[in-house]
Amino acid sequence: MRQKLNYMPEFIIVNKQVEKYIALIQLNRPKELNALNLQLMNEMRDALKELDADDNVRVIIITGNEKAFAAGADIKQMSDKSAIDMLNIDQFSTWDQIKKTKKPLIAAVSGFALGGGCELMMHCDLIVASETARIGQPEIKIGVMPGAGGTQRLSRSVGKALAMEMVLTGRFITAEEALKAGLINRIYPVELYLKMSIEWAKEIAELSPVAIKLAKEAVLQSFNTPLDEGLLLERKNFYLCFAAEDQKEGMAAFVEKRKAEFKGK
Ligand code: CAA
Repeated sequence: MRQKLNYMPEFIIVNKQVEKYIALIQLNRPKELNALNLQLMNEMRDALKELDADDNVRVIIITGNEKAFAAGADIKQMSDKSAIDMLNIDQFSTWDQIKKTKKPLIAAVSGFALGGGCELMMHCDLIVASETARIGQPEIKIGVMPGAGGTQRLSRSVGKALAMEMVLTGRFITAEEALKAGLINRIYPVELYLKMSIEWAKEIAELSPVAIKLAKEAVLQSFNTPLDEGLLLERKNFYLCFAAEDQKEGMAAFVEKRKAEFKGK
């Protein structure tokens, strides 16, 4: 049975238990190719906050539909704004909150993932794409540039050459190119990409939620800190794992040659 959020969003559909421990957020502005207007992003922020705090959720999948993951920020909503309007609207503070999600996020991407859509995808920790995915940062074609992390996250993922090409020309890349460049993890036929994302989420949901959170934090920190600082955080998080029942259970299960039952405690 579909489990809903505590409130009713308009532009996303949330199923808190698409499978045990797996929540699914579906962007739902199909006519606009899931263009990310302010309300949709606020709803996304609120949903992620609620799911991140819910003990019955261990992995969160974000998806769109077959034609579009998301075709970017809503151009119509921005077109007549001044710089000061944009400063006051402060749309990217929503994204800062999304970035704080501690549980693993999987993007299940089909069709267009452009501009803010590509940036939302890159906020996720793992990316599963359909063969039809078309990924790009085409803001340059409408006289602007990426603003939700596109220049920074894309460069870190795919390197300078391809990032420059995508950001300076707006060229879309295929799922195959994205996989080769290290931007995405896996590709499946369009009829399977969501199902396989859920299967992957199920595998992760069977692991220790405590260790998963600490490990996610440590990997993300590697993009922000010099090596020695990152290593220090890694070491502290490693020691912190030993404060959890999950560590005792995981290691006992190994020794006893049985499957571990992790509780997230
Ligand atoms: N914002 C608002 N509306 C959008 C949109 C967007 N980003 N992308 C698509 N739409 C709307 C179209 O206006 C159209 O609406 P109408 O039917 O009312 O005209 C509808 O979605 C369908 O789109 P198209 O008719 O254009 O569909 P297509 O298949 O011919 O083309 C496309 C698809 C190549 C994705 C094309 O829609 C497109 O280029 N979209 C814009 C992509 C873009 O520039 N994204 C970056 C936005 S800026 C940004 O994201 C900034 C940031 O960093 C946060």
